[in-house]
Parts: sequence; structure tokens; C-alpha cells
Amino acid sequence: MSVPTRRAPSAGEPSAGPIPPALLPVAPVEPGADPEARLGLRFPEGFGWGAATSAYQIEGAATTDGRGPSVWDTFARTTGRTANGDTGDVAADHYARYAGDLDLIRDLGLQTYRFSISWPRVQPDGRGAINTRGLDFYRRLVDGLHERGISPMATLFHWDTPQALQDGGGWVDRDTAYRFADYASAVFEALGESVPVWLTINEPKTVVQNGYIIGHHAPGIRDEPVAYLVAHHLALAHGLGVQALRATGSASRIGGALNLHPCYAADDDPATLAPVRLYDGYENRLYLDPMFKGYYPEDVLADQGPASPLVQGIKDGDLEIISQPTDILAVQYYTPIYVTTDGGTVQKWPTTVAAWQQVYPQGMYDILTRVTRDYAPPAITVTENGLPCPDEIGMDGSIDDAARVSFLRDHLAEAHRAISDGVPLESYHVWSLMDNFEWEAGYDQRWGLIYVDYATQRRIFKRSANWYRKVISGNSL
Ligand code: FCB
Repeated sequence: MSVPTRRAPSAGEPSAGPIPPALLPVAPVEPGADPEARLGLRFPEGFGWGAATSAYQIEGAATTDGRGPSVWDTFARTTGRTANGDTGDVAADHYARYAGDLDLIRDLGLQTYRFSISWPRVQPDGRGAINTRGLDFYRRLVDGLHERGISPMATLFHWDTPQALQDGGGWVDRDTAYRFADYASAVFEALGESVPVWLTINEPKTVVQNGYIIGHHAPGIRDEPVAYLVAHHLALAHGLGVQALRATGSASRIGGALNLHPCYAADDDPATLAPVRLYDGYENRLYLDPMFKGYYPEDVLADQGPASPLVQGIKDGDLEIISQPTDILAVQYYTPIYVTTDGGTVQKWPTTVAAWQQVYPQGMYDILTRVTRDYAPPAITVTENGLPCPDEIGMDGSIDDAARVSFLRDHLAEAHRAISDGVPLESYHVWSLMDNFEWEAGYDQRWGLIYVDYATQRRIFKRSANWYRKVISGNSL
């Protein structure tokens, strides 16, 4: 099966024709309409408003204070891998500027901030000695959040595998899952309960699809059968990470962070239902089923075949580890997928600057209600949702990202509807707090609420940031 991906080259794909009226987004923004118009939707008391970032995308300081190289350093420095040859060497220089950034987070009114911890900063070789200067950075960050009344949410792995581990096989090697558990234990020990919510692995699917099938993310490998063994080892790392936290006796909560794509039939031909189902297997159930049900989806296993690296790589006891009970599920929603009778995909909705992303707010409702129905997680947080805009500084110095305001508003309205229908959604994080290194797209794509002028590292609140601050203070849309 050739898998889809959020970053597959999809710009040239044919459209499936006129949009069926039943699929129109709930709150379409008419030309000239006010994206800030209030919808009169109040969120539950205590709902957490946040934004997210990740280490490699914002920190820079690639060799500072003993940080080791990661696969993303290697990949980005390889000619032709990223737009303009961009790297995360400097990024938004957050490692040096974190204190000012914490003030911006406070000024924005965020109640929860999701960031990631760089494994090679904490453990430069991915095993063995801990680099205390690296850990100290995250101590300062976490303390700074608490001082400002903001709740930290930390992801342990957001794709920056230490290069030394990659040299020994990376995620194809089962041992990497155990190395991850050691690293996680060191972080849990150092930060303890000052981080109330931990997330294990960010978007394992993106590592699988983009890193090991399409190869346009680090480590840039193209080997589809092996990619699904990587999926298993990432799942194992998740389970071992959960066990490691429990072993500390911590009262902090933990869960996985999955990017989920609602999959729909592109037409009403009954023959399309089977390919939609298999697509859903590869996009969603391959990651959810082992975590919540302790098995892999039958249809995906059958499609891979008994001799596949995935099937061969599942050892006795693995699924018990992977399905350790978690406390919270982090959902990241960006785009729906429309599957055709022949198992291909088409786009039904306008895309953003990211050609893989169709704007379909109702997908937020569909995916949140679906995971609640099928997996019953004790709590859900949305840890990423957002879009890139062609943001430019206007004559008056402001950045008018009206499209971001309406995108966020419409998706939040769908999240609100999901809460009303019983989804245990407790918080929401915009991707992203600030513009940053968007992987293979480098600095060409701006996803932030806060504009970063990379030449000066000046930060500017965009219109969306000012709007979001009002939403947060009113706890309503
Ligand atoms: C998510 C990633 C995040 C960022 C957004 C746009 O898949 O987790 O780092 O790239 O997409």
C-alpha cells in the first residue's frame, strides 16, 4: 500500500470536483466577513489555552553547552534537503532568549505551554552520560513558566534522535526504544513533578511516513517495509516511557501525541469503503490500537504480510508494554484525507501554503468524537492545530493574518461542539507559539502567533496573537 502523508507532494493532485454541500465547513468565512466576529461560545471553566513549539524548531544553539548532534542537524546540513538549505542552527534563538519568550507567553495570556526536550541536549550520545547543562536549560524554562503561572507540558521526543544512535541503526534498532526509556528516566528524575503533563513521542506517524518512506524528513530513508518496524519501535518507546514515569512514583500525567487524520470516501461508490478503511488503518489505527487496545489492526498486519519487518518485529510482551494505561491523549489535527476507489487521494478543500493541508474544521469534531467513542481516553488535549500564512509586516508594522484568525476560530468552534457532545477535551494548543524552522520547508513557512524577524530575532504579535489573547481572557469565542 502506498501511504499518504501530510507532506506528500500533493499540490498537483486533481481536485475531486465540486464540493458536495453536505461537506461545507461549519463556519465558512465569506469574503469581507469579520474573522473576529464573536460566536458566543463559552468554554468550560478551567479549560486550558495554550500554544506549542519543539526544541529543534526554535532553540538554535546547536553546539552550545555540550549539545550533541541530532539526525535533524545532519539532515538539514545535507545539500538539497531543506528549502534554501535552512537549518535549525540558530532558528528563533530561543535557547538564549527563553526568558524574553517566557514574558511573551505570559503577555499572550497562555495558561499552558507545550515544548519539547532535546534528547541530544540532555544526552549528547543518546546513551550514557547526562549533560547537566542541557538539563539545566529545561529546569530554568520550567521554573520560568511556574513563576509566570503557566503550566508546562513537555514532549520527550520531537524527532531529534541523537545522531550517535542513528549511526547504530536508529529506530530500526529495537534497542533505541530502551535508550529512549533511559533518557526519559533521567528527565523525569531531574524535573520531577514540576511538569504535570508529559508526552512521550510526537507524531510517530510522521517519522514513519516522512522519515522512512518518503524520506523528506530526517533520517531521509526510503524503505516502506522497514518503516513499519520503526512504527513498532516508536510505540515500544512510548510504552517504556510510560513505565519509566510510573517507576518514579510521580503523580504527573503522561500520554502519547498523535497526529490523526479523519479519512473520508471521496465519492459515494460503495467500493470506496474498503480503501478508506485501510487508509484509516495506516493513518490512525496503526498508532491508536496498540496504545489503547493492545493489538495492531488486523487489516494493516494482513496488508504488511506475515514476513514483514513489522510482524516479525513484534515480540512477546511488547503489546502489554505499549498499552500501559495512559492519563491523557494528545491529538494533533491539521487536515482530512479523501480516499478514492483505487486507494489514491484527492483534495476537496482549499489548501494552505502547505500543499498537504486542506482546511476542514469539521475534521476536528470528527476526529475528537471518534477517538472518544472508539478509545475512551481519560482526557484529551489538542497539542497542535494551525496553519502557515504568507505573513508580512505591513506599513504600520502590524501583521494581519486574518486567515489564521478565522482558521483557529472555526477549528475551536468544532472543538467546542465536541466538548458539548461529551469529548473530555481539557486544553488546546495552537501550533505554533512563534514562527520557526518548519522542517523541510525551512523558514519559508510561518506558523506562529508571534512573528519572528530572523534577521534581528525581533518578535511581533500578529493579529492572531492579539485575537487569541482576547479569546483566552474571555474563555469564549
Ligand atoms: C506537526 C509537527 C510540528 C510542525 C507542524 C506544522 O506535524 O509536529 O513540528 O511541523 O506539524
